[in-house]
Amino acid sequence: MSTTIAATDVAFQSCMSAACGATFGIDETLTTCPNCGGLLDLSYEWDRVPVPSSLREFEARWSNRSNPLDFSGVWRFRELIPFAPEDKIVTIGEGQTILQKSDRVGRFVNMDAGNLHLQYEGLNPSGSFKDNGMTGASTHARMVGAKAAACASTGNTSASLAIYASTAQLFEVVVFVGSGKIAFGKLSQALDFGAKTIQIQGDFDDAMAQVREVCGKRSMYLCNSVNPFRLEGQKSTVYRVLESLNWEPPDWIVVPGGNLGNSSAFGKALKELKELGLIDRIPRMAVINASGANSLYQLVEERGLTWNDGNIDDSIIDTFFVEMDQSKRRASTLATAIEINRPVSLKRCLRALDITDGAVRQVSDAQILDAKAQIGAGGFGCEPASAASVAGAKLLREEGVIAPSDRVVCILTGHQLKDPNATVAYHSSEAGAIDEKLANAGVNQVSFANRPVPAENELEKILEILD
Ligand code: F0G
Repeated sequence: MSTTIAATDVAFQSCMSAACGATFGIDETLTTCPNCGGLLDLSYEWDRVPVPSSLREFEARWSNRSNPLDFSGVWRFRELIPFAPEDKIVTIGEGQTILQKSDRVGRFVNMDAGNLHLQYEGLNPSGSFKDNGMTGASTHARMVGAKAAACASTGNTSASLAIYASTAQLFEVVVFVGSGKIAFGKLSQALDFGAKTIQIQGDFDDAMAQVREVCGKRSMYLCNSVNPFRLEGQKSTVYRVLESLNWEPPDWIVVPGGNLGNSSAFGKALKELKELGLIDRIPRMAVINASGANSLYQLVEERGLTWNDGNIDDSIIDTFFVEMDQSKRRASTLATAIEINRPVSLKRCLRALDITDGAVRQVSDAQILDAKAQIGAGGFGCEPASAASVAGAKLLREEGVIAPSDRVVCILTGHQLKDPNATVAYHSSEAGAIDEKLANAGVNQVSFANRPVPAENELEKILEILD
């Protein structure tokens, strides 16, 4: 396969609103449509892109791993993300992630043996799937000559942007986090990687609103998933899932939903692959909210919001958020990464749900932590937000929406070492003595605790415990 990437003039930015549909060059730094304020998409003139005739052709690149673009689990699919000249691509070896069949977790979800797969995106360099997208945003930042970049974050986005800034040394980084709302390990990464870190007295939704204003006023490059170049990189998770399944689409892809960038990217990837004739059918996608941060669930499943060919009924969304403000409802879940009430990619996600005949569900923190304990005991582990995918798959099985014979891939978005407080609290809790942090989040029962055993510092006593 040719390693020459398509010329960048095959790519352009387009407004996703059907009523607007304005287009812009990729040399422009935009986060929303200047005409109507709508979300932007990257579009390609695919007939001018040297896309391979079969996805299998990408496998040849495994043998050429001295080329950083072939080593990258994102850019080895570069003909499917063709917006960047090769010499501008910023890569740190992201996307070396794996798909694992897990019968143990499959039993928990109640699947037939061999049908439940876990995709470990926490194996990325900064510990989450965000690196798949940040390589795209960093590349575009370099293409437009940005000197400073910024993001709001519940933790993983900031760590990811900071690692790209520290390794590439191309731009300064400012990250905005909610005070007390960021996992300590993630804060430590941002600080260690040298990012200027602004702790706002508020939550993620507040930090997101502020960073958008600041980027406009200070010409900083915005790296949240509202940025369409980030989502282009995040399409690669779908490519890797398909590759691991021998290029046969699964029946379901289940993904946690927070700001809704990942689910949006997955839908776009699948639509493009189908239109390019590279897959013959599109898997269904389930997006799982935490019940303490369930805007998507409420809007889609309870209020009937749909993509409607790009003519979204804004009045449903507006009414929902007015009511949310009136009742002063803030997002609240132990799954810190998805503690988001105002997802910026909401409309993109509606399109993805339309493409994939998708479903949205909500799961409680107790369901999330039980699923997380099963994932840890059955494999590489994940952070709480990621376990929402397995908890959601279990719920969909109980409802009969997913059949035991379906092939299901749950996306584990972040590394097990995030939010260790919740993990230790879970495993240390017992009936009648649930850790306070968990109890405050409505977790009254832990089903799979692996309690640490206290021991006196005496050999005999330790042996007694072991025997
Ligand atoms: N899982 C993890 C581990 C995350 O960090 C996030 C988002 C999500 C799921 C939700 O993904 O936004 O694409 O729907 N974390 C953000 C952050 C918001 O700041 O790191 P999404």
